[in-house]
Amino acid sequence: MTNTRSSTTGTTAPLVPADLARHGPVIPVIVVDQLDHAVPLARALVAGGVKVLEVTLRTPVALAAIEAMARAVPEAIVGAGTLRTAADVRAACDAGARFGVSPGYTREIGAACRAAGLPLLPGVATAGEVMAASADGHDFLKFFPASAAGGVPMLKALAGPFADVAFCPTGGISVETAPQYLALPNVRVVGGSWLTPADALRAGDWSRITQLARAASALR
Ligand code: 3PG
Repeated sequence: MTNTRSSTTGTTAPLVPADLARHGPVIPVIVVDQLDHAVPLARALVAGGVKVLEVTLRTPVALAAIEAMARAVPEAIVGAGTLRTAADVRAACDAGARFGVSPGYTREIGAACRAAGLPLLPGVATAGEVMAASADGHDFLKFFPASAAGGVPMLKALAGPFADVAFCPTGGISVETAPQYLALPNVRVVGGSWLTPADALRAGDWSRITQLARAASALR
């Protein structure tokens, strides 16, 4: 299955990685523990103006959550995060993910995504990793873990040798620090889990999530 059409969501336009930054300044990094949270959560984020959603493959219900969101909330662009193996890529595609995010980059992940037609936002934290990912044709990269790996100064330093590479910093970013990242010319969008706090999900406090999404949409 490619990212161009999902049997459950109907016709969808093909995506390229750069499209992930065209719908707002923040991509939420989502951990779904309970499947019945998936659809109201996606609706709450879309209501706040956030439609590119990364659901991490970190819980037993993650793939089912992707499938449910993609089917019930067609305005959302639902992708799979925490891709670590080719099997993860295939499972994400089967669930209807329209893009993938990996915490690091391997040739195996790159090849699996190319074979599946799944746009990939691969993670990097060093200059050598940028070189490996860009040698395989990736020019839009997740900078992870952003704050621990050098934050804004590191991204400024990477802009010199890698003027043709753009980043989505993720990891340790908050609504307060996001604007510093978004002000950098080589940053297109940031990722973070602050839009979907675990206590709000547990409480079913969807209006709080919509408020957080609205505030995130207004950044930059
Ligand atoms: C992750 O992959 O866990 C993301 O980087 C989210 O990090 P955060 O929880 O610090 O936003």
